[in-house]
Order: sequence, then structure tokens, then C-alpha cells
Amino acid sequence: MRTVDLIHRKRDGEELDSPEISYLIDAYTRGEIPDYQMSAFLMAVYFSGMTDREVSTLTECMIRSGETVDLSSVNGVKVDKHSTGGVGDKTSLVVAPLAAAAGVIVPMISGRALGHTGGTLDKLESIPGFRTDLTVEQFHAQLSEIGLCFIGQSERVAPADGKLYALRDVTATVESIPLIASSIMSKKMAEGLDALVLDVKVGSGAFIKKQVDARRLAQMMVGIGRRMDKRVQALITDMNQPLGYAVGNALEVMEVSQTLMNQGPPDLTRLCLELAARMIFLAKITPTLEDARHVAENKLVDGSGYRKFKQVIQAQGGNAQALDKFELLPNATGMREITSPRAGYVSAIGAEDIGRASTLMGAGRDRKDDRIDPAVGVILEVKMGEKVDAGSVLCRLYYTSEEHVEEASEMVEDAFRVSQQKAEERELILEVVG
Ligand code: URA
Repeated sequence: MRTVDLIHRKRDGEELDSPEISYLIDAYTRGEIPDYQMSAFLMAVYFSGMTDREVSTLTECMIRSGETVDLSSVNGVKVDKHSTGGVGDKTSLVVAPLAAAAGVIVPMISGRALGHTGGTLDKLESIPGFRTDLTVEQFHAQLSEIGLCFIGQSERVAPADGKLYALRDVTATVESIPLIASSIMSKKMAEGLDALVLDVKVGSGAFIKKQVDARRLAQMMVGIGRRMDKRVQALITDMNQPLGYAVGNALEVMEVSQTLMNQGPPDLTRLCLELAARMIFLAKITPTLEDARHVAENKLVDGSGYRKFKQVIQAQGGNAQALDKFELLPNATGMREITSPRAGYVSAIGAEDIGRASTLMGAGRDRKDDRIDPAVGVILEVKMGEKVDAGSVLCRLYYTSEEHVEEASEMVEDAFRVSQQKAEERELILEVVG
């Protein structure tokens, strides 16, 4: 088989068969296909797409490129939740404890912040002492004991994805639906799950900007799961404004704490309850989704989700008191208010600009090995549709160094639009697939 022939055929929109896709992935993972040829192949996929059969084969080959996690020794139905990435998206930290409190086994394998979107591991590590580098034995033991464990992805799981993702990042081929679907599903299906709930974000702060593309991505991932005999459901949710009010690691942990005490922002609470309910339903803890919604709500209202999160923090070496005493979390040293230049209605809060401003102040990273500052970020004072006066505070920037504050402030000012007309309210949960 010649790599150039496969690139040629994909470029011309042909379907590749299983041995051809296996050859490409196996040889690339072993270092036998050079980056320049794989880059050309990825670009051919970007423009020509892939059939469902091709995407399933690609995903299977990526899973086979590394180890798979065996959770058969842990009793119970294992369900994870994965988001395609957003700004202020701290749902995992609320959803996982709620689902675990209801009896779901949640092996949550999460990622770090990259670009303008945040990462669950960075948020957790802003809690003093919290460790995510557990051994496989510790992971299994904690899942059996508490039903929830947060860890990072091992380099040994789906290594083909690690290599391909790094190449996509520098060849403008990240935003390809078949490549995103196979990347996410290869990692998730290698985790030993029984079911998966996906949150596919769409809008200015997401990788996917159009709902039609989000639907295609969701359908593709649900299809991959189904062909592997796993129960997968996807929610398509709006990411045109940050989720909740807080953007930035420790700031988001504070909002998670408030949300688990049932005092969180309405949009975040609503989405978390729906995601948790879907996990509870897929775990077959309740016979209907409606029953699962009641269970999720009870776990929030009676505080058991909150207690579960504290239990997990303690088990992973963190100081659980930080959830009640925010002064124990990393705190910023400086604060700047951004005010409205005019009276009117907030008609846009560009999530990507807010995410970029937060990253610029140190909350995120542009490169994998950049260090982050857990204390910094942005807290919105308003959400879309709210009425403001001239001079009303729109948001506050929290920082520890003056270096990028001017630039970040300009970005945040540009993110807000205040109009005379009240814009139509947007739905948060746009569609369910699967
Ligand atoms: N998240 C992933 O894991 N992979 C992608 O390709 C995009 C988002």
C-alpha cells in the first residue's frame, strides 16, 4: 500500500476501506508515515469528509493504537460525560458528583485547558492539594469506594489521537467533524465505559459555530457508540455566551460550590441537572428519564452532590474546606471593572473573546506545557438580555499581574454589545441526539 495513493483517493472524495485506514493509523503511530504525508491526508479529510463506516474504522484503529482501561472489577454501570469544550464550562464538576450521589459509577477522565476553552483538570488542581495523577490501582479503589474519580488521560490511551491532535493543531485541521468525532470517541471508548453523555457545544465560544454541524457531529459520535454497543446520548447546547458567570479556574470552583449548594446560576444549574439526569437514566438507575430528572434534582437539593464532591476532594488529597472558605483557594491580587458605555439591553457576550482575555491573563494556555495561573479570570455581572444603565458594571477582571490587563480589558469590552432592542432569548439546550 502506498500512502500517496490513499491521500490521492481521499482528496478525490473516495471512501477508503478498513485495511487502508488501519494501515494509515498503524504506520503513522509507529512513525513510518512522515508528518507531511499525514498532514496532507488530514487536509484531504477536512475537505472531502468521511463516511460513517470510515469514521467508525478510524475510531477503532485509534483505540487499538494503545491500552484500554478494564473496569470490570468495579461493580456498577460506568457512565462518563464529555463536553466538546466551552467558556465557563464547569459542568463536569457539578454533574459528576450529582450522578455519583445517585449511584452511577463515574470514571471521569478529563483534559486540560487549551486555546480559549477551559479544562476540568486545571479547575480541580486549583483546589489546594488536589491530585489527578493517581495510579490505576488508586483509580479502581476510589471508584469502588466512592463511585467517582477524576484523573487525566494517560499517554498510553489512544496515543494515535495524541499524535494526530498535535498535528491537526498546527495544520488547521482541528475543525473537521469526522476528525473531532474519532478523536473524542477513541479516548472515551478506551475508558471501559458502558454509556456516555456528550455535551456538544455550538456558538461563538465553541469549536463548532453552526447548529447543522453540531448535529452532524453529535449524530456521528452517537453512531460510533452504537456500533460499539455503548449507550450514547448527546445534547447540543448553546455556547454563544459563557456558561454561568465565572470564567477562570478557582473562580469556577467557587461557582461549582455555589451550584452544588443549589445557589448557582440558572443556566448552569439547568444544564447540569439535565446532563446528570441523562447519566442516571443511561445507568438504568431509574426506568424513565423523568424519574432520573427527579433523582438529579433531589441530589442537588438535599446536598448529597455537594457532600460527594467534598468526599472526592478529600480522597484525592485536596482541602475540601476550600469549598466553604473561598479564601483557601488561590485569590487574585488585582481587580478591574468593565462598565457599560450606554444604557440598553445586553445583546452579545462573545464567549470566545472572554475566554481569550482570561487565557491572556494566565487562566489558560496556548501551548500544552504553558503554566497556568489558577487565581485569574473574569466574572460576569450580567447575562444576555439583561437591562443595564450607562456605567453599570458588565464584568470584573481578576488578575495577579498587570502585564496583560490592558489588552484583556479591551478584548472584554469588545465582547459585550449593548443595544436598544432586547434580543430574542436563546434556548440553552437546543437538541438531543440519540
Ligand atoms: N476535543 C478532542 O478531544 N478532540 C478534538 O478533536 C476536539 C475536541
